[in-house]
Amino acid sequence: MILIAPSIISGDFSNLEKQIRSVEEGGIDWLHLDVMDGHFVPNLTFGPLVVKAIRKVTNLPLDTHLMIENADHYIEDFRKAGADGITVHYEACPHLHRTIHRIREFGARAGVAVNPATPAAILKEILPDVNLVLVMTVNPGWGGQQFIASSPRKVKEIAQMLTAIGSSAHLEVDGGIDSSNVAAVVKAGARVIVSGSGIFRTSNIPETVRLLRRNAEKALEL
Ligand code: DX5
Ligand code: ZN
Repeated sequence: MILIAPSIISGDFSNLEKQIRSVEEGGIDWLHLDVMDGHFVPNLTFGPLVVKAIRKVTNLPLDTHLMIENADHYIEDFRKAGADGITVHYEACPHLHRTIHRIREFGARAGVAVNPATPAAILKEILPDVNLVLVMTVNPGWGGQQFIASSPRKVKEIAQMLTAIGSSAHLEVDGGIDSSNVAAVVKAGARVIVSGSGIFRTSNIPETVRLLRRNAEKALEL
């Protein structure tokens, strides 16, 4: 099964509710929320206050991607704001095992994200503890960047690692994905598809969501 998770940072922040309605109309599964702190990544986005505001206008699961340092300090706030899933970066969490278990203790789906330069093999010890692995297919920081072509190879490697340990963790991809390249990541094993500008910067958002899903599901059949 394919889950589609539009990244709201590419949406129009002057009317977030309208943007959310248009992706809901296309039949999405999760809403992806990119939190950036200006330290781990150069850019700044938003914090729990905006997550709480979004929670008020949708029942969709909120897939919160924390590109921040000191994630432990904020997990409770994001959870209370309504985050269903909380994903932290391998590169930003020196005590990753503790952080992942803290997320689980707060009752959220716990995810680990890896940057393009981080090798898959480094996740070996943490894989049994996570509910989701997010493979970055661009360097985190901005929407609208170009998909890194070597990414499917890493997705495949992590898919095999998950299978080897009998894990049913979600395998998510994020960055530069649209209807033209989604098949490659799905064939490699990705099942949760994040897309920001590939969805929000198109003229018919619901139709773009449907096309993305169609192309992803077609790739599953091959
Ligand atoms: C990158 C973010 C992504 C990204 C998605 O730092 O984590 O979620 O903005 O946007 P596109 O699909 O435009 O790359
Ligand atoms: Zn993201």
